Amino acid sequence: MFETKIRWVKFAESENDLEKILLGKSCGKTRINGKAVLLVKHSDEFFLVKNKCPHQGISLEKASCEDGFIVCPWHRYGFDLKTGRGGGGLHLDNYPIEKREDGFYAGFEYISLF
Ligand code: FES
Repeated sequence: MFETKIRWVKFAESENDLEKILLGKSCGKTRINGKAVLLVKHSDEFFLVKNKCPHQGISLEKASCEDGFIVCPWHRYGFDLKTGRGGGGLHLDNYPIEKREDGFYAGFEYISLF
């Protein structure tokens, strides 16, 4: 049977590393496990989302954060940072972040046959 699992990938040693990705801004682009993602800091919480707007596939690098939503600079569709739900019934992929003793991990879903 097919089963959805999460592959955890370490992407930062410390919160300091997360701040380095942000470079003093609220959003910072990076690549984790070959995926272009955006690290977002909002209300002292970190989020990881796909760095590609589901509306027209444009980078969200210059997006802003408003009331828990990341807002695309192009047509202003907003996507909930926690759920990815957004304008026009679209969904922005988001990835959980887990803080462990040895650093920060990003979770990527995959389908397993086992
Ligand atoms: S490209 Fe992002 S809202 Fe249109």
